[in-house]
Amino acid sequence: MARHLITSAIPYINGIKHLGNLVGSQLPADLFARYQRARGNEVLFLCATDEHGTPAELAAAKAGKPVAEYCAEMHEVQAKIAEGFRLSFDHFGRSSSPQNHKLTQHFAGVLAERGLIREVSETQMYSPTDGRYLPDRYIEGTCPNCGFEDARGDQCDNCTKQLDPVELINPRSVISGATDLEMRETKHLYLCQSRMKDQLEQWIDTREGWPVLTTSIAKKWLNDGDGLQDRGITRDLDWGIPVRKGDEDWPGMEGKVFYVWFDAPIEYIACAQEWVDAGKGDDWARWWRTDKGAEDVTYTQFMGKDNVPFHTLSFPATILGSGEPWKLVDYIKSFNYLNYDGGQFSTSRGRGVFMDQALEILPADYWRWWLLSHAPESSDSEFTWENFQSSVNKDLADVLGNFASRVTKFCRSKFGEVVPEGGALGPREEQLIADLAAKIREYEDHMAHAEVRKSATALRAAWVLGNEYLQEAAPWSTFKTDPEAAAAQIRLALNVIRLYAVISQPFIPDASAQLLAALNTVDDSWPDDVPAALSTLPAGHAFTVPEVTFRKITDDEREEWQTRFAGKRD
Ligand code: 2FM
Ligand code: ZN
Repeated sequence: MARHLITSAIPYINGIKHLGNLVGSQLPADLFARYQRARGNEVLFLCATDEHGTPAELAAAKAGKPVAEYCAEMHEVQAKIAEGFRLSFDHFGRSSSPQNHKLTQHFAGVLAERGLIREVSETQMYSPTDGRYLPDRYIEGTCPNCGFEDARGDQCDNCTKQLDPVELINPRSVISGATDLEMRETKHLYLCQSRMKDQLEQWIDTREGWPVLTTSIAKKWLNDGDGLQDRGITRDLDWGIPVRKGDEDWPGMEGKVFYVWFDAPIEYIACAQEWVDAGKGDDWARWWRTDKGAEDVTYTQFMGKDNVPFHTLSFPATILGSGEPWKLVDYIKSFNYLNYDGGQFSTSRGRGVFMDQALEILPADYWRWWLLSHAPESSDSEFTWENFQSSVNKDLADVLGNFASRVTKFCRSKFGEVVPEGGALGPREEQLIADLAAKIREYEDHMAHAEVRKSATALRAAWVLGNEYLQEAAPWSTFKTDPEAAAAQIRLALNVIRLYAVISQPFIPDASAQLLAALNTVDDSWPDDVPAALSTLPAGHAFTVPEVTFRKITDDEREEWQTRFAGKRD
């Protein structure tokens, strides 16, 4: 049995994610995890909320809550929505967990001992009124480029110019409005990534079959300009993991925390410890330590393209730099962006469909199918309501749903709600079996390589084979002249429904469970042997006609949703 460690990029805590976020990491990771489990492999699938950094502090302030309380609440909200989408994490952790505090401080300590951390003195805006240093986003003022009065310290939203807070005219604190800001000297820690450039490059060069999107981004960061730069790993913030060297104080670093991007990927490991501490598993080290059994684990990470530099360079620099036997990622699956109806999804402007809203209007499977079958793999892709309506109506309702409904209803009317007996399979049936076997092998091959769209195409093609067969074999006509032959056709077709339920489960788990329940079977074993799998339900086996598996989206609904999700969310 192969062992698969699977992680999805951990979503920021500040607010509910949109469908573009979902399809960029959590959903394809879930597809892959479900598939590996269905193949009988051992899987540990982890995700968490990314709770530190300025955006978390700002969102909490906006909500008028202490940041720890805000994060605890939003974690529950995100966990619930993840459940709604049937994301099958073995554990959904928190980067603010005690486990991650300890492990992050451990890594920093080890890296320092190995001479891979240096201290740098910098000047930064300080607000005496607020009694704290202000990160870029906490400073606003007049844009030196266009005169916009509410430009942020890092960027002007009016003219989009990237800014340095010292460039702002009349800078003020976002927290208090104070204008008595001053530049003060502050010390920070830098991870000496530049010294690890060769080691990182060699590691990346020896990864086989990685997506071009992943390696090209990594190479760009390694070689563009002056090459890989050292990275600041601390911040002057209150909220975060206090800077410590293992369990010792770090002189000069009092009151500082680690940068969110330093501790976030370490949470992948800490999350496995949380999983054990929550009583869900008994050994995290056999997944994460190559000296404790993890050498035979295949580790796959899923993420959007903006996350690639941190996963190909910064996190591996932490792992390799530690000199400790931590498991390194084997395969990084990265995604382009999903756009929304002629523009971009936008969290700040509330443009597009957010995860909670999606579940309010349709069940998870409808979204899962569309998003995965249109995953932005080789390029950015676009959500349009027309395309969503037509995919759902054709693929799910007309092809899969219709097959299940026609076969079971016809059987009920002619043979009753039991698998009919008698008759024998003819050449057309043998052909269907052979075609399905070939298509399923193709599907397996794409799934094994986490080729999401190709897998969806192969699955849809397998559904189409059943419909074509039904059209040609026409058991309703056969029945008039040769009821025994019609019985054999329907017996096969009922078994095809079970087969579809099993192979479609990674994409549409609820529909799959519904079909298996209607077929009155718990046998969801993978069709390693397709002919054998197609005789699982024997003659005489009782079933019920499933409720509508997928309904069609009407033009009225499409238009209503299009209008409703065009602008600001309420
Ligand atoms: O882009 C994001 O949503 C980040 N919160 C992803 C972090 S992934 C990791 F490093 F943990
Ligand atoms: Zn401007």
